[in-house]
Amino acid sequence: MAREKTDSMNVKKTAAETKPVEEKAPDAVSPVSASKEAVAATEKTAAEKKKAAPAAKKAEPAKEAAPAEKKAEPAKEAAPAAKKTEPAKEAAPAEKKAEPVQEAAPAEEKAKPAKKTAAAKKAEPAKKTAAAKKAEPAKKTAAAKKAEPAQKAAATKKKTASAAKQKEAAPVTEEKSAPVVVKAAPVNETMNLPRRSVAFIGSECHPFVKTGGLGDVMYALPRELARLNCDVRVILPRYACIPQEYQNKMIYRGEFYMDLGKTGRSYYVGIMEYIWDGVVYDFIDNEEFFSWGNPYTNLVDDIPKYCFFSKAALAALNYMDWIPDVVHCHDWQAALVPVYLRTLFKDSPVGRAKSVITIHNLRFQGVYNIPTIQYWSGLPDEVFGMGALKQDWVEGNMLKGGLAYADRITTVSGTYAWEIQTSEYGERLEDHLRYHSGKLRGIVNGIDYGMWNPETDPALAENYGLGNVLDHKMANKLALQKELGLEQDTGKFVIGLISRLTNQKGLDLVNAIIPQVLDGNTQVVVLGTGDKQYENAFRAYEEAYKGTFSACIQYDEGRAHRIYAGADALLVPSRFEPCGLTQLNAMHYGTLPIVRETGGLKDTVEPYNEFNGEGNGFTFDRYEAGLLLDAINRAKSLYFNNRYHWDEVVQRDMAKDVSWEKSARQYKDLYLELTQW
Ligand code: ADP
Ligand code: GLC
Repeated sequence: MAREKTDSMNVKKTAAETKPVEEKAPDAVSPVSASKEAVAATEKTAAEKKKAAPAAKKAEPAKEAAPAEKKAEPAKEAAPAAKKTEPAKEAAPAEKKAEPVQEAAPAEEKAKPAKKTAAAKKAEPAKKTAAAKKAEPAKKTAAAKKAEPAQKAAATKKKTASAAKQKEAAPVTEEKSAPVVVKAAPVNETMNLPRRSVAFIGSECHPFVKTGGLGDVMYALPRELARLNCDVRVILPRYACIPQEYQNKMIYRGEFYMDLGKTGRSYYVGIMEYIWDGVVYDFIDNEEFFSWGNPYTNLVDDIPKYCFFSKAALAALNYMDWIPDVVHCHDWQAALVPVYLRTLFKDSPVGRAKSVITIHNLRFQGVYNIPTIQYWSGLPDEVFGMGALKQDWVEGNMLKGGLAYADRITTVSGTYAWEIQTSEYGERLEDHLRYHSGKLRGIVNGIDYGMWNPETDPALAENYGLGNVLDHKMANKLALQKELGLEQDTGKFVIGLISRLTNQKGLDLVNAIIPQVLDGNTQVVVLGTGDKQYENAFRAYEEAYKGTFSACIQYDEGRAHRIYAGADALLVPSRFEPCGLTQLNAMHYGTLPIVRETGGLKDTVEPYNEFNGEGNGFTFDRYEAGLLLDAINRAKSLYFNNRYHWDEVVQRDMAKDVSWEKSARQYKDLYLELTQW
């Protein structure tokens, strides 16, 4: 998640077109916020005081002025002085040394996905699963062979065309913003499981706000945990960019005022609540911090924003008198939560909760100068040592602090849990992570089968399941080609790429080989936004290869679904990939992934073995364009020369269990491990 980047932010406009409150153009330059000024010039704080008491959103009755949170702050900050450019002091390297590289292997074995798990449990009926078996697909597949596209395409053409037209007309995003609800587990099964309460704290969550996979996880995992008898509350910022349809559903839960760091000010904290499918969503309201068009802007604003959010989230739990067994926070934006929990909040009710922090992407850490973080967080000096927030003797690192103070650390795949302890992937935190490896483990992500289900997906031209994928995938391909202005020909091999366009995603490799990939029988479709260099390069390819290459430089959830359904293969050649969800979506839609063997890609895609026909996709190891091209060529050669075996893999991938079920159980086990009573 480019959570510190503004240019790659693409807040989902779901339902989109439902006009978010005061939404700005995604890349509009936001007006200077009070928080920004305050970072730049502390002196202004007094003058801003008035502004600081943001109008309690609605005309709610004036609430108790004595917030529960107040009590939670025994350590009153000293004089606000310090802000300026405090030189990096404490030459004393003491704590640095105190971080031996020890406790070798993280308990990561748990995270290893069972590659060959029998079958898509919930979503696929048992009998269908069998169809996925290697030996089976013969007859069906035969139909799907070369001969198939022509007539079938003709047969489906009408339907497809009209469906596609419909889709064009209707903003698809509308539909998926109200994801199909997955049936809850039977009550009796749930009731037998031990109950635990968990507060999820993070900066984005589908369908309210999503810029990438974090939003998917914050949506899907709580729902799955609720099925495992967890009482889950998700605490999020109430960004102004949350679509109005959700804003309208929120109900006022309360409000209070909270001190923040050394600002000397008292900040409004409103709590707006939305209960949906067994999960409670509490939105922290404060116009001063959350009124921008994007969740993330730049660090100057994001540091104060997420200091405020982390503290307000805990204060809100105290205020609501809902004390969870576990506080589970996500990425750097919520990384101060475990630190607050053991310092300013330790003697308050929420102080008894255990804490878990999940690293979704180690690249983003919330690094800024210590005086600023100290100023906004109000955290005591003791946490700014080398064992926690201090990094390289100078900077403050919010994620680093969270990792030190959390009771458990997880990341989103077993391989990434291992990789981040190496200098190649450790983003300068490898020593710190090795030091804490005893409490680190990898748990691979899943996808939500309600949100991602080709049988019911309203965005698709034609729905299909494991049993009839070979009959219907071509119709989706034709519809996609039509939608994107590509030559409509089921005989072409269509490669999709759905991604934030950032350095993480291996796009320089893709750029380097496009001319060789476009051999006359292949089409490439890119959907994404991000760094201008990639956006422009893909636009240029579209110009140069009209009808063959499509560059959709946009964020469009519906179109993403149609690419997953209509493409034959999906590229994920990432430089690093903590887990990756696009390859999981692709497999679930019968689209074969072509991935680099790193992080979660390695854990979820077993390379196709041409000798025994096993595997889920095509892989390459070193980060080299030539190897990517080779993997694409292997895919092509199977597709064009041995469609029977290709189709076997399509069915196997659709039957593969990529649901959240198993992983959610691992999270639940982790919570139980932390709360044994
Ligand atoms: P990351 O979180 O690093 O961006 P993931 O693979 O974990 O990568 O998750 C990306 C998610 O965002 C997937 O659900 C993918 O479908 C979605 N996505 C990425 N780019 C776009 C886009 N331009 N339009 C629609 N969905 C997108
Ligand atoms: C991050 C990672 C991605 C992961 C997602 C959800 O954004 O880049 O690999 O799938 O978070 O955990």
